Amino acid sequence: MDDPSWCLATTRSYIHPVNASARAMWALGDYHRFATETVWELGPVLVTACGVSAGQRVLDVAAGTGNVAIRAAETGASVVASDVTPENFDAGRRAARKTGVELEWIEGDAQALPFADDEFDVVMSCFGVMFAPDHGAAASELLRVCRPGGVIGLINFTPEGAGGDFFRVLSAYAPPAPSAAPSPLLWGTENHVKNLFGDRVQALEMTRHEYCETAMSPRAYFELFRDSFGPMVAIRAGLREQPARTAELEAAFMEFIARWNRGASEGQVRIPYEYLLVLAHKLGV
Ligand SMILES: C[S@@+](CC[C@H](N)C(=O)[O-])C[C@H]1O[C@@H](n2cnc3c(N)ncnc32)[C@H](O)[C@@H]1O
Repeated sequence: MDDPSWCLATTRSYIHPVNASARAMWALGDYHRFATETVWELGPVLVTACGVSAGQRVLDVAAGTGNVAIRAAETGASVVASDVTPENFDAGRRAARKTGVELEWIEGDAQALPFADDEFDVVMSCFGVMFAPDHGAAASELLRVCRPGGVIGLINFTPEGAGGDFFRVLSAYAPPAPSAAPSPLLWGTENHVKNLFGDRVQALEMTRHEYCETAMSPRAYFELFRDSFGPMVAIRAGLREQPARTAELEAAFMEFIARWNRGASEGQVRIPYEYLLVLAHKLGV
């Protein structure tokens, strides 16, 4: 599997101390617009899979604008949305207000969560924790803040699906990774997740599923990423002085669409993205 070095290059500085470059990247564009037009249907999927219910204390790690957190709050749970990019919280607060729910928004790195041991009944992350470069530290933090017997639920792109291909396309245009950090896509493989959690969990359940992203046309799909997806905005800004490379990136993205599109080639885009749904119960009762 090729390394999606753009992710690594841009998230590497998370390890210590605070990681201005990754935060700046995810704050670019318009993440809430992007999320609502692509991954928004997955928030309820994860909340239902984890059995979130009223009265539980729930954490959404790398929450973005609350895809999972807002849906968890709708059940009556007491929810904290945490992310390293607080620039996106205002959009999340507006979405929560519109939905009529209240939750807490707390800045935090998945590798060093600002919460107490055993604080949450349920800890979830949708396409989030996979971007923290120190996988071992992030897995240990998910476990630490979850109570014994509590549930950890994750949605991660698989390397074999369209998400894996997408990251490999982008990585070719990103600055080289400063050093060999593990690929975020490893979180989409059963063995890696099993090794990360080891014997600290019971009943580790992992299943592969698909969701579809749609757009009015291939051009509209490209423009959505160009204008609203922070990592794409950052890479294009880095290529500002290189119009030929910028055009190449656009062509590569259009080829990516053509490879995966199950809709009409000039009409509506419909791309199936495979993900690994992880459900783990922390050891203990
Ligand atoms: C693809 S978005 C997913 C957001 C949200 N979970 C959703 O479903 O829309 C990835 C998120 O991970 C966050 N992130 C990346 N690295 C992180 C880290 N080390 N700790 C916490 N959040 C992180 C980014 O700020 C961004 O909000």
